[in-house]
Formats: sequence, C-alpha cells, structure tokens
Amino acid sequence: GAGGHVEDYAFSFEGPFGTYDQNQLQRGLQIYTEVCAACHGLKQVPIRTLSDSDGPGMPEDQVRAYAADNFEVFDPELDDFRSAKPVDHFPENTALGAPDLSLMAKARAGFHGPYGLGINQLFKGMGGAEYIASLMTGYTGETKVEAGTTFYKNTAFPGGWISMAPPLADEQVEFIDGHENDLENLSKDVSAFLMWTAEPKMMARKQAGFVGVLFLTVLSVLLYLTNKRLWAPHK
Ligand code: HEM
Repeated sequence: GAGGHVEDYAFSFEGPFGTYDQNQLQRGLQIYTEVCAACHGLKQVPIRTLSDSDGPGMPEDQVRAYAADNFEVFDPELDDFRSAKPVDHFPENTALGAPDLSLMAKARAGFHGPYGLGINQLFKGMGGAEYIASLMTGYTGETKVEAGTTFYKNTAFPGGWISMAPPLADEQVEFIDGHENDLENLSKDVSAFLMWTAEPKMMARKQAGFVGVLFLTVLSVLLYLTNKRLWAPHK
C-alpha cells in the first residue's frame, strides 16, 4: 500500500489512569541519545526535566553528568561552546534536514476516521506514539533513488517512501539491565520517550481530570438530595 498503516501498540500511559513507565522513558532516552540525536534535535525540551518524577525521574547528579557527557551548547556570554548543563535545552540539530522531535508525538496522529469523525481516536487515543513506533518497524527493505536522494519503503509513512534510513534494528542498543532490545521493544521505548517530551504534564493532567470528575459526581449527588429535600413539603 501507500503507507499510513499504524499498529495499535500498547503503552503504559494509555487510558484515563495510564502513567509513564520511568524505566521505559530512561531506555528511550538512551536510544534517542545513541541513535536519533545524530540527526534529530529536541530543542523544546529542558535537560533538567529528565529528573521530573512524572517523567524519567533521574537523580539530579545523573542528569548533570548526562548533560555534560553528551552535549555541547553555544554560550553567548562565553562567546564559545561549553558542555551542556541541566538548565540548557537539548540541542537542535538541523544538519541533515531531519525535523525536531520535541513535539513530534503530538504533531502526528496514528488513528483517524472513520469518515473524518475521529471515532478511532476516541477509543484508541491519538496514536502519536503508535505512529512513531510503527514508523520504526515499518521498513520493508525496498529502496529507490529519486533526484539523487534514496527513499526507503515504509508501511507507516504517508505516501509510503521516506528519506530516513531505518534508524533501529534488533539489538542495536544495549541496556545496562539487559532489558529486551529487539526492534519492536526499542521502537516502543523511544516512542514512549518522545510521547513524554511532547506531553510532559500528561500525568498531572489526568489526575486533575480525575479529581474534577470526582468533584462533579459528589456535587451532583448533593444537589439531587438537596432538591428532594427542598420540594418534599410540596408533594
Ligand atoms: C524523519 C524519528 C533517527 C533522519 C523522522 C520522523 C520521525 C523520526 C518521527 C518524522 C516522520 C514524519 O514526518 O511523519 C526518528 C527516531 C530516530 C530517528 C525515533 C531514532 C531511533 C534518525 C537518524 C537520521 C534521521 C539517525 C539520519 C541518519 C531523518 C530525516 C527525516 C526524519 C532526514 C525526514 C524524512 C522525510 O520526511 O522523508 N524521524 N528518527 N532520523 N528522520 Fe528520523
């Protein structure tokens, strides 16, 4: 087909009570750093947010070391480059024309329709993370060259041909705890991480929503009882 096929992968953050899986976000960060950061940036994301307890929840000293070890940023005060600190954002990366990934999981939808109604999104979610994971696993191996650019056949990418070479493969990234690292697991982990970069406040939002619904439920019961009591003498 011409692309657009998205697998409905299961993620821990789905549903009204879903939460991010800290270990998965940390694995996703590692995949991003070792693989994706070669071409993509995350310029909207402050490095310090890696220690958010609703996010990857990394200890602050680990975040400091991560920033210093992995990224250099230009400091206008020094008029020079220096190693990154937690207050800096992840660098942007425009070298190879790859789009910034900060908000990609919200910019793309995995599920649409039917008939433009968005019913699938109501039941399955928007599907941004599913889309990214499906993009990672959707390469068929076919390639073509057009105007000097190589395109790779991909069952998830709209139109079916993408100029990004398959970024992930089985066992490409190794985890310190020996966690599974086949292509599908790596794809889901990096997609979960990119869902968090795009929506770091998801858990707070769901909690506020739950408290709101609970409050309205209690209020409804009280109003019903009040109404009964007020009208009781006139019956
Ligand atoms: C596009 C993810 C690694 C180069 C994209 C898109 C996503 C993505 C979500 C947008 C697709 C769309 O427009 O719907 C990732 C992830 C990576 C990764 C998660 C790591 C696991 C890389 C690497 C390179 C690269 C290593 C360079 C060697 C590109 C380019 C595009 C792109 C050039 C634009 C493709 C086009 O529009 O035809 N990537 N990427 N990516 N990526 Fe990556």
